[in-house]
Amino acid sequence: MTFSSRSMKNRPLAFDYQSSTPCSQKVVEAMLPYWEEFWGNPSSRQNRLGIHSSAAVSLARENIASVLNIEPEKVIFTSGATESNNLALLGHARAKALKIGRPGHLITLQTEHHAVLDPMRQLQKEGFRLTELKPNSEGILPIDLLRQSFENDTFLVSVMLANNEIGVIQPIREISSLCKEHGVTFHTDAAQGFGYLPLDLKQINVDLLSVSAHKMYGPKGVGALIISNHLDILPLHWGGGQENGLRPGTIPVPLVIGLAKATEIAYKQLNSRNESLRKLRNQFLEGLQSEINNIKINGSMENRLPHNLNITFSGINGNRLHRELRPLIACSSGSACSAGKTSHVLLAIGRSTKEAEASLRLSLGRNTKIHEINNAIEIISKVVNRLN
Ligand SMILES: Cc1ncc(COP(=O)(O)O)c(C=O)c1O
Repeated sequence: MTFSSRSMKNRPLAFDYQSSTPCSQKVVEAMLPYWEEFWGNPSSRQNRLGIHSSAAVSLARENIASVLNIEPEKVIFTSGATESNNLALLGHARAKALKIGRPGHLITLQTEHHAVLDPMRQLQKEGFRLTELKPNSEGILPIDLLRQSFENDTFLVSVMLANNEIGVIQPIREISSLCKEHGVTFHTDAAQGFGYLPLDLKQINVDLLSVSAHKMYGPKGVGALIISNHLDILPLHWGGGQENGLRPGTIPVPLVIGLAKATEIAYKQLNSRNESLRKLRNQFLEGLQSEINNIKINGSMENRLPHNLNITFSGINGNRLHRELRPLIACSSGSACSAGKTSHVLLAIGRSTKEAEASLRLSLGRNTKIHEINNAIEIISKVVNRLN
């Protein structure tokens, strides 16, 4: 018996679509021929199988590039947003330090995912200076705070497009303009925003952008780093020279095809899908507010991903809340990768430790139905009102 046939008999209601998403059927179908039939190595262009794989990878690259309005060679395939962030931040900072002979100053935001915070803190250990800026109580980076934080040798700013816990969308157009004014490289972790927000990189001058397939109904284990402008970047690995030598190793053809297909689907009906997600999410919030007193909303409702809700139930015990909800609702107290620690995002926007622990991130999926929302409202309000 496989693990999957043994588990998940009585599935809890799924409200954890920001930790990952199911791979869409159309994405699975697009990948299918590349597991067995077209198994060639795209770097082996001496034979037809290799040429076929290479052509499929080129087409995937072109399709992703056209969504972002950039040239295909600017798309570097990676294993996901964690690797893209590491390549962007460590790769660029180390190359810069090598060129000018000393490390310089870096800026990021306290509410970044650990896939940005940890490489930044690693660079700090290597001698770079790091400023982690505090967002306002809505979770947004005040542009003036960024302006005041530039130092003479600031060369890299990393601010995420949309937050994985509170769904807040950062003003990346303004941030990128400010970085351009100061001649500073701008990286954005778009793991949560790519596939949900329009991104024309000819209009938003982002230098480096990280994407992930599994947050938008693509396969796990693939993503990309978009390098929009010419930049010095040192690779993290060395080998066969693939991806312009920046990410050597055999390209995982089926996964790359899956990333491209997921991208195409995500951007096809972006506005109408977002509109219905926003409507359902707002019904969810209103339903909870009508049943439960003292709900605090975490993060801006105005600048927010349409499928994210993050709320605090003041005065109740977070451990008990999560323990009681766990069998019934799959949701999260914070990031899927935060290993049970109190959310640094909620603390950064001013919640106390107790409040942060008594919080839920509820994220909706493409196929979430109103009856699931209504069931969740009933379950959550029963549990919260009992614990109150
Ligand atoms: C904002 C953000 N960045 C990076 C990651 C890591 O992405 P991946 O799983 O593709 O490495 C995640 C995943 O939770 C995320 O939400």
